[in-house]
Amino acid sequence: MFDGNHRLQVMRAFVGLFLFAGWAGFVYGFEGPAAPTDLRCEYLSNPMGVDVLKPRFSWVLHHTERAQMQTAYQILIAGTAEGLPRDDGDVWDSGKVDSSDSTQVVYAGKSLSSGKPYYWKVRYWDTAGNASPYSAAAQFEMGLLSRDEWKGQWIEGNLLRKEIDLQGRIVRARAYVTALGYYELRINGEKVGRNVLDPAFTTYPKRVLYTTYDVSRRLRSGKNAFGVMLGGGWATLGRRFFDPEVGPYYKTPALLLQVNIEFEGGKTVFVVSDGSWKATQGPIVSDSVYDGEVYDARREQPGWDQPGFDDSTWSAAQTVEGSKGVLSAQMMPPIRVVDSMMPRSIASPRPGVFVFDMGQNMSGWVQLRMQGPAGTQVTLRFAELVYPDGMINRENLGEAKSRDIYTLKGQGEETYEPRFTYHGFRYVEVTGFPGTPSLDSLRGRVVHTAVGAAGSFVASKQILNDIQRLIHWSQLTNLFSIPTDCDQRNERQGWMGDAQATAEEAMMNFDMAAFYTNFIRDIRDAQFPDGSLPDTVPRKYGGVPGDLGWQTAYPLLCWTMWQQYGDRRILEENYDALKKYVAFLRSHAQDNVYRLHWEGDWVELAHTPGDYIGDVWYYYDVSLFSKMAQVLGKSDEAASYGQLAGQVKEALNRTFFDAHTDNYANGTQTANAMALFLDLVPKEHREAVERSLTDDIVYGHNTHLTTGFIGVKFLMPLLTSLGRSDLAYDLAVQTTYPSWGYMVERGATTLWELWQDKVGPAMNSHDHIMFGSVGAWFYNALGGINLGPESVGYQRIHIAPQIVEDLHWASASVETIRGTVSASWNHSPGVITLDVTVPVSSDAQVVVPPEAQMTDVVIREGDRVVWENGRYVSGDPGVKGGTQDGKKVVFQVGSGTYSFRLTGSE
Ligand code: BGC
Repeated sequence: MFDGNHRLQVMRAFVGLFLFAGWAGFVYGFEGPAAPTDLRCEYLSNPMGVDVLKPRFSWVLHHTERAQMQTAYQILIAGTAEGLPRDDGDVWDSGKVDSSDSTQVVYAGKSLSSGKPYYWKVRYWDTAGNASPYSAAAQFEMGLLSRDEWKGQWIEGNLLRKEIDLQGRIVRARAYVTALGYYELRINGEKVGRNVLDPAFTTYPKRVLYTTYDVSRRLRSGKNAFGVMLGGGWATLGRRFFDPEVGPYYKTPALLLQVNIEFEGGKTVFVVSDGSWKATQGPIVSDSVYDGEVYDARREQPGWDQPGFDDSTWSAAQTVEGSKGVLSAQMMPPIRVVDSMMPRSIASPRPGVFVFDMGQNMSGWVQLRMQGPAGTQVTLRFAELVYPDGMINRENLGEAKSRDIYTLKGQGEETYEPRFTYHGFRYVEVTGFPGTPSLDSLRGRVVHTAVGAAGSFVASKQILNDIQRLIHWSQLTNLFSIPTDCDQRNERQGWMGDAQATAEEAMMNFDMAAFYTNFIRDIRDAQFPDGSLPDTVPRKYGGVPGDLGWQTAYPLLCWTMWQQYGDRRILEENYDALKKYVAFLRSHAQDNVYRLHWEGDWVELAHTPGDYIGDVWYYYDVSLFSKMAQVLGKSDEAASYGQLAGQVKEALNRTFFDAHTDNYANGTQTANAMALFLDLVPKEHREAVERSLTDDIVYGHNTHLTTGFIGVKFLMPLLTSLGRSDLAYDLAVQTTYPSWGYMVERGATTLWELWQDKVGPAMNSHDHIMFGSVGAWFYNALGGINLGPESVGYQRIHIAPQIVEDLHWASASVETIRGTVSASWNHSPGVITLDVTVPVSSDAQVVVPPEAQMTDVVIREGDRVVWENGRYVSGDPGVKGGTQDGKKVVFQVGSGTYSFRLTGSE
């Protein structure tokens, strides 16, 4: 249809359009402050079901000039979609507020009503007082704000249905749904929403999270059918570790549902779960998070979720007591099927046994397509490993059966994927398959909490990129509404030690703010009356009280939220509970030394005494708490906890420091790294303790780690702060045992639980995130992206890439709460370039380090000289100053993108 001539014409038209657009931009002036983007409410874009009465807002600023700030903002919130274009902020018109805050801005309008949508936009004024255009409109919608609004009852059943006749024109309908276990809601034959494994895993007796769905278009005037499938999820799972009090929360799964349907004319009809629903046993014969699903397609009842279905053989649904806990809105990204993966290969190690290799250790399940006689039973078994003969190795799965069984109904091509389980696997064994499967018979379904990407890191050394890829996968596959330890064996728990170790890495790689906001509340829910915390949250496994390296997740996650996102509310909301936690620690610290411990460091190679580690955490927690008090303006408490921290430090040195050998405890890497990191070491011994540590790494262990996951998180940033990024780098790129690189070299596609390559029945998951803490060091040290001193939420940024000898370039970028922060550098002999991006309303210190022996250093930014003859040269827009710090040159810059280029003679 498109001949050559025509194509040319179309192209000309496009070119014309572009030219015109460019010209128009010039004439009408696209210069200056641009409309804010990425509007968030409680960290979420356009959330439905917000139950925070004074939600917080944030937006990202843009400007065509450098060194720009927001000097004022105006937020308009309208109660109708039509009001906003008219600039009618009938719910809240903040007016022009003189403030540089573009994050954590607290709602201050009329009180927000239950179930109502709100529409908002924002504009800002720059340093010259020019206003930006308004942003595009964003929305948020309140959830059900009081318990009284829930009119339904908890009901149990495997398959549940309810039919209802609706008369009139439906203008708006919302479904509020939760379950003790997992649910799938269907209306008129179709699944509602894309969430899977919903709701989140919480301490159900205390709190259950509901999801809000817009179902306006699903319902119609006339007959409508609601169908719900229920699975046990974490609510009915009985297995436990060594915590006899924590059995299954409930015997059977249960549903709580409410659909509010508004009609033209103002009438509202409520459809709620209650005894009028019908129940039966559906095709899911059994389901378990650990064991998998058994599904008999012959038991499907076509049309069960459609109106007009004959349910006369079904019984009345049983109402149950359910949870008496708080019903809260699920205000974080849901678990979703985020990707489909083609298997990489298929093998048949024995007749009738087919083993698919996904090429990647992943979390989720598979979708299987097949055709065969009714009653044929196909079994899928999942594994992270294979034996040399190609058969799957499931020895490391513990008690988890991790298998799905499907019985065919025998009607044409059948497609199966489970609903209420998930597996951690790279290999899938298929037996009982009718015929011979092909690669096309199976798809991997990648499932986890669907957090957005926030960061990227790449460097010229391939092993670093490989490790980054492993971190990426291990982190995502361990997000299942809570941060889990692993995704395959019978654990998958919110082990708090693993959570605290990896929070920083996770926040740089992914958009985690809403996720951890939720998890921190889960932690508070799990706190014991004496202030202590369990090892796992929700509490299922582990010791009581938890080891301090695990309990410490509470203060540490709060503090990391404050640092990364400037979240002051987290500190406010948790202050009292944290105080109780510190009081618990104190009550167990005789003579200011806390000695309770279980794990200490974990999966370490050189054992460090647990009482020492516990006591270091005690010091850390008390000092953090004192800092939090300071942030909240509670200076008296800040001072008294600061004093306590001083006493703990003194006692710790008295008890655990050996001034003769210059070692803490038994002198392991973990022991000395923790003390140095937390600045516990008396000044006059600092250098010697540093030497003890670096000697142990270099001479004691031939540049290898002996730490577990607790110690290594301190060690890497510590080495950088000591000016030994070279050594940290050598550890990071090490490929012999023990190292991250060793995992890569041995074919790992996710990080292991152990430094050792074990494949037997003992504890050795091949997908643990806890060693992934090194990911934060990639961004901070090699990428060079750091928070400025005493700064939070990236308002002041410190760009300081560690240009180590072996690395030619590295590039990192993070979508922070204030916008993109990035740093990319390149080093060739005699030349170092560094490109930096700083968001509007932030500024940065940019450290440009010359080579050690360089003289006559000249630094240009773009084509202007900014440093020459050992002095800062002013005049470059955005660059506010430059100073020398030893050999390094440090520039102060405002927002914008900069390209520094350093040259010199050798
Ligand atoms: C988990 C770990 C956890 C540890 C603590 C293990 O079973 O998988 O990641 O932190 O126990 O006891």
